[in-house]
Amino acid sequence: MSGRMNQLGTESAFEVLARAAALQRAGRDIINLGIGQPDFPTPPHIVEAAKKALAEGHHGYTPANGILPLREAVAADLHRRHGVTVSPDRVLVVPGGKVTMFFAMMMLGEAGAEIIYPNPGFPIYESVIKFSGAKPVPMALHEDKGFSFSAEEVLALITPRTRLLIVNSPANPTGGVVPKAEMDKLVAGLVRHPHVAILSDEIYGEMLYDGQKHVSLLTYPEIADRVILLDGWSKTYAMTGWRMGYGVWPEALFPFAERLAINDHSCVNAAAQYGGIAALQGPRAPVDAMVKAFAERRAYIIPALNKLPGLRCANPGGAFYAFPNIEGTGMDSRTFQSRLLDEAGIATVSGTSFGEYGNGYVRFSYAASLEQIKTAIGRIDGWLNAKR
Ligand SMILES: Cc1ncc(COP(=O)(O)O)c(C=O)c1O
Repeated sequence: MSGRMNQLGTESAFEVLARAAALQRAGRDIINLGIGQPDFPTPPHIVEAAKKALAEGHHGYTPANGILPLREAVAADLHRRHGVTVSPDRVLVVPGGKVTMFFAMMMLGEAGAEIIYPNPGFPIYESVIKFSGAKPVPMALHEDKGFSFSAEEVLALITPRTRLLIVNSPANPTGGVVPKAEMDKLVAGLVRHPHVAILSDEIYGEMLYDGQKHVSLLTYPEIADRVILLDGWSKTYAMTGWRMGYGVWPEALFPFAERLAINDHSCVNAAAQYGGIAALQGPRAPVDAMVKAFAERRAYIIPALNKLPGLRCANPGGAFYAFPNIEGTGMDSRTFQSRLLDEAGIATVSGTSFGEYGNGYVRFSYAASLEQIKTAIGRIDGWLNAKR
């Protein structure tokens, strides 16, 4: 076994899922608020487009970067959402959002290099940074800033060894959205550090509430030659199982990303790519309805969590996660997570699964029905009060 395998971490949300499923099989009534995917089916017009592609014989390899009509649809969608013009030649369609982050870190990380990443943040960042041999440098997200970073603090972490900075807004696990003023400050500072590439993970870019606006890092011409955009279909179109994502790569990096794709997976499932076109070009109503449902659940769960003894929950405006502080319960995050699952049948994910700065917090996903969420809150209330 290579030494680097010891560096590879994992995503413990999948472990919680397995434990919750085992308890369910044993007959327990489990409510799963640990899950990181929409609880909606993929809209039917997308499913139909993929079925049609199969019926019409799209069974072979496609170009490694993805079929041209799909890459054109991605470029048109980026123009619609962010007002930017991106050549379809810079779009690399990959099997899921994760692949763009893996490629970026394999391309830029090595021993002696440093990569700055959000903490608490998506656990795969830290895992793959270590796997690449680079040093992971955590950037703190602050509860009192709606789980945004401080641009000044981030810029102070940059050294001559920094190769890559990872930004994720709206964020997993906190739901945090970086305000435009903070993003502007960060970009203004990055101009002074031309050796740093930026990976902007915008996979939750269409999941915003309370009038919050998403600021894409693609919209800043002063850093355009070093921004790698990570986006995809998983969350916006409820397509996590299709494995459809894309990266927009700077021209100079694109050939290397494509070469990684050819070495790794050749191309993305052909029929899924046709589904991807239907998603981007089809009606927006299914996406709007899903976001509306998340907004209703969020309007319930955040105040409800704040009323629970020992919990304090910020109200950031994106994704589909609440990230309450649970220190007032006297339990640490992992104990809270495992006792809540075992004793009250509610699956959540400990904040420590998202990095050391997640200590004291627990992630609640509201990708569950309002009815389930209400039942869960009632059970947690009973469970916490029984302890007092
Ligand atoms: C912040 C973030 N980026 C990327 C991904 C990966 O998405 P995909 O399932 O498309 O690989 C996730 C999935 O949970 C995520 O939370």
